[in-house]
Amino acid sequence: MLAVFTASLAMVASATLSAAGPIHERQSFTPSAWDTWIWNNQSTNVCADGSMTGFAYNMHSGANDILIYFDGGGACWDTNSCFTNPTAFNLQGYTESSFQGWTKTSLDSQILLTSRDPARNNPWAGAHYVFVPYCTGDIHGGNNVVTYDGAPAPIYHKGYSNFQTILQVVAGAVPYPQNVWITGTSAGCFGATLNYVAARKAFPWSRIHLIGDSCETTPGFIGTKPSWKLTQPGGRDCPKCQPGEFNSFLPALSSANTGSRFGSISFASDGTLPGFMGATMDSFTSIISGYFANVTKTTTNMAKTFTVTGEGHGVLYQTSPVSTTGATLASWLATMKNLRSGSAYKSV
Ligand SMILES: *[C@@H]1O[C@H](CO)[C@@H](O)[C@H](O)[C@H]1NC(C)=O
Ligand SMILES: *[C@@H]1O[C@H](CO)[C@@H](O)[C@H](O)[C@H]1NC(C)=O
Repeated sequence: MLAVFTASLAMVASATLSAAGPIHERQSFTPSAWDTWIWNNQSTNVCADGSMTGFAYNMHSGANDILIYFDGGGACWDTNSCFTNPTAFNLQGYTESSFQGWTKTSLDSQILLTSRDPARNNPWAGAHYVFVPYCTGDIHGGNNVVTYDGAPAPIYHKGYSNFQTILQVVAGAVPYPQNVWITGTSAGCFGATLNYVAARKAFPWSRIHLIGDSCETTPGFIGTKPSWKLTQPGGRDCPKCQPGEFNSFLPALSSANTGSRFGSISFASDGTLPGFMGATMDSFTSIISGYFANVTKTTTNMAKTFTVTGEGHGVLYQTSPVSTTGATLASWLATMKNLRSGSAYKSV
């Protein structure tokens, strides 16, 4: 009886969907409210202290695209950086009340990419949004539980496995988006890059694009953090990715995904990242410019950069940043999002 009922419901549902046209077929899920952030607990997802976390979504009726925003907030890799003088955010948990308490306001009214305010000209104002919290200290790429020497408790570096759960839920709800844009600043930018291949596998029918803000490294840096057990892109998914060399990933992912857009964003000088990597700001400024030159010359011509004059960390946190050439972030992102813009998408 139940089986029959379920089967006939499914038939009604599929008839309604095809009558409604291709946009509605993209989505098999209706949220309790549109254009509203909704928190979703995930019992398998944990923060650094082992406590349960989740993610948030904000769906827009009829959207073709999903924008996935990875939160930023430092990193930690030993007893000192995880416990004594913590250099990562939310290590003691991130819950629904953390999200409602401070993150939601920033997504609604600070970050351009998740703004639906017409006055801000966000090219993704009509997309679905997914927010990936950051509470694992592992630049969203780890999969390890470790008790550091002298530490009072284990640390769950589970960013990569947490995101796998989020992908499963989101791809189950919206299996056929036209485009998926993954993005973030700082640790969120590292996370978007390290999780690009996972996103591509979760949405095999969609194009996956990457917008990374403020993530570059000194040579070999990620190899100095073995306790994270990072998942790195490589092998057949990214033949030109060099293991352990983070700066090789975005240009190499672009080479391996020729229909996708890649964007790197930064201030000309970054006052935060060099401190994590034992570099001077001046030497790091040349790393950023060398990296941006590498991104720009990727032969797909689909990877470009946006540089803001001066020193800072986190361009997407600024209200209306302008590039060294005078382009606004919103106008540059519009050329990136328009996949037919051709050579109008360029480094600025
Ligand atoms: C999520 O879990 C927390 C803590 O267990 C609980 O207080 C909250 O009501 C849950 N939220 C939802 C939407 O289920
Ligand atoms: C630029 O690319 C070259 C060739 O792959 C590489 O050796 C160099 O380290 C890259 N520079 C930066 C700063 O990423």
